[in-house]
Amino acid sequence: MNQSIIVELEATLPPGAVEQIIRGLIGYNVMKAPPADHRPLAVVARRAGEIVGGFLGHTHWGWLFGRQLWTAEEVRGNGLGRRLMRAAEAEARARGCRHAHLDTFSFQALGFYERLGYRVFGQLEDYPAGHTRYFLEKRDLSVPSLELGQGTSKV
Ligand SMILES: CC(C)(COP(=O)(O)OP(=O)(O)OC[C@H]1O[C@@H](n2cnc3c(N)ncnc32)[C@H](O)[C@@H]1OP(=O)(O)O)[C@@H](O)C(=O)NCCC(=O)NCCS
Repeated sequence: MNQSIIVELEATLPPGAVEQIIRGLIGYNVMKAPPADHRPLAVVARRAGEIVGGFLGHTHWGWLFGRQLWTAEEVRGNGLGRRLMRAAEAEARARGCRHAHLDTFSFQALGFYERLGYRVFGQLEDYPAGHTRYFLEKRDLSVPSLELGQGTSKV
């Protein structure tokens, strides 16, 4: 192999490039770790057909990862966020997951997740400047959030 390797930024990737890089990484992981069983997990809340909230994430290696959670402003504070999280956790349990993790910013929902039994295991200050990014975990999904003293949903 005597050709030099060119390293460059690419604003637009050619078809298949992302897949090839991911395939390469997964190929490595497969050799080193147990099967990941990576599966997307989405929970959507609709009112009269219109989306008013949702949870997006995935499960793999026995963990639930929460990537995005949002409820529409006009329905907030009525238990919908909790319902979305419970539904995601229930599906994760059904898939055999035991733990969950996610992250949130200081201007988002730290207290919300703590109420659901998540605890901070790490944080990055000044991310973005003047704020903090928190990383949270919940170690035992077999304890449903309902049993952690939470109220019932009004939505
Ligand atoms: C965070 C969010 C999803 C919560 O949804 P919601 O429908 O208002 O949540 P719920 O009504 O189920 O609230 C459950 C509990 O958490 C509390 N809570 C809700 N949002 C909270 C927040 N941002 N911080 C602290 N506590 C919060 C509620 O007061 C309620 O408390 P209770 O158990 O004493 O009744 C919603 O406010 C939202 O979309 N925020 C903007 C985007 C965001 O921050 N997303 C999270 C990204 S990580």
